[in-house]
Amino acid sequence: MPDQVNPELDRVRAIYDKIAPTWDRRQGLVERVLMGQHMRASLASELRGDVLEVGTGTGPTLRLLADNTKITSFTGVDLSNGMLDVARDVARGAPFPLELRRMDSGRLDFSDATFDTVTTSLMLCTAPDPDLTLREMARVCKPGGRIVLLEHVRARNPLLIAMQKALTPLQVRMLGCHLDRPTDRLVHDLGFRVERESTRFFGVFRLIIARPPSEGALPQLAGRMGDR
Ligand SMILES: C[S@@+](CC[C@H](N)C(=O)[O-])C[C@H]1O[C@@H](n2cnc3c(N)ncnc32)[C@H](O)[C@@H]1O
Repeated sequence: MPDQVNPELDRVRAIYDKIAPTWDRRQGLVERVLMGQHMRASLASELRGDVLEVGTGTGPTLRLLADNTKITSFTGVDLSNGMLDVARDVARGAPFPLELRRMDSGRLDFSDATFDTVTTSLMLCTAPDPDLTLREMARVCKPGGRIVLLEHVRARNPLLIAMQKALTPLQVRMLGCHLDRPTDRLVHDLGFRVERESTRFFGVFRLIIARPPSEGALPQLAGRMGDR
């Protein structure tokens, strides 16, 4: 399926194709120091059945799945072939059927209600249209399935918000990443039914376990994400 016509998609793809070889080193620091590696381990333990990961990147979650016997298949998609090439190495020897495909999260090439778990990590900050991505994740998730998200979001503390806002223009230029997106609020506003949520680093990093909104229940929201 061709990508949407959106110059930001091309820009983000080019960024990640370029930094793919050094991504793991760079990201390792953020995970160790700010997010804490246990958050990704918790996410990995929540995956079960036929799993779709949106924005697989270089496969940091895949690395943690060797002992997860609840997974029956794993499909990973990402905009960047460079990132997926690294993930392909990680994926060798996975104990379940596995497929990695280049795909835009805003146009997932899967039928409705295909997956038991739809997951993403540190990706909704970068997707040019997180609203569309969440809608697509809900669409391809089975009605009884689960959405598992690990994201950094807009802080609650005014000082931290000010810092996030100040740093965001540079971060967007370098990584396409919006530090100040209120993604957790978007999840609630779209009608996902949040079952559990854990946080780290003053509530900036959030692991959210949710059920998709029921069919036809996704509301139209006024304004684009960053404006609300
Ligand atoms: C910050 S990295 C995170 C990667 C990985 N999930 C992790 O936790 O390290 C963001 C990833 O999202 C991907 N991405 C951004 N926009 C996308 C889109 N519209 N569709 C699919 N992947 C996208 C990027 O190519 C990149 O690999």
